[in-house]
Amino acid sequence: MKSKKVTLTIAAAALAGILLTSTSTSAHAVDGAAVYQAKACLGCHGMDAKTPVMPTYPKLAGQNAAYALQQMKDIKSGARANGMSVAMKAVMQMVSDEEMEAIAQWLESLN
Ligand code: HEC
Repeated sequence: MKSKKVTLTIAAAALAGILLTSTSTSAHAVDGAAVYQAKACLGCHGMDAKTPVMPTYPKLAGQNAAYALQQMKDIKSGARANGMSVAMKAVMQMVSDEEMEAIAQWLESLN
């Protein structure tokens, strides 16, 4: 019960973050860390990308860039779809290929 409420709160916070920041992401020189924060990824995966808010959410820090990029694309397209990925799918509609690439590179650089 408690965790469901937390999840809803986080989803609402994530959406609010998108609404507030979606216009501020520049199209050039994409900064993966900045996009990660601006697109509210941290709302679920944690500020450092290794402290997810739910034990059922994955840690991302240090992940191979190619793998992370493919997962983001697959969640966005729906090719990867399960009960867990639905929450993230909506967010991914606001993230471009270029931004996903930048995020993936940044995630790989983390320890
Ligand atoms: C509402 C919560 C939520 C938000 C917001 C969210 N994610 Fe996720 N993410 C998840 C969940 C849950 C999964 C696991 C999905 C599954 O089980 O298929 C996941 C999976 C992933 C994966 C694949 C991890 C793996 O090991 O396969 C990557 C990469 C990822 N997210 C990156 C991001 C990025 C980048 C953003 C921001 C643009 C983001 N996520 C926003 C919840 C979220």
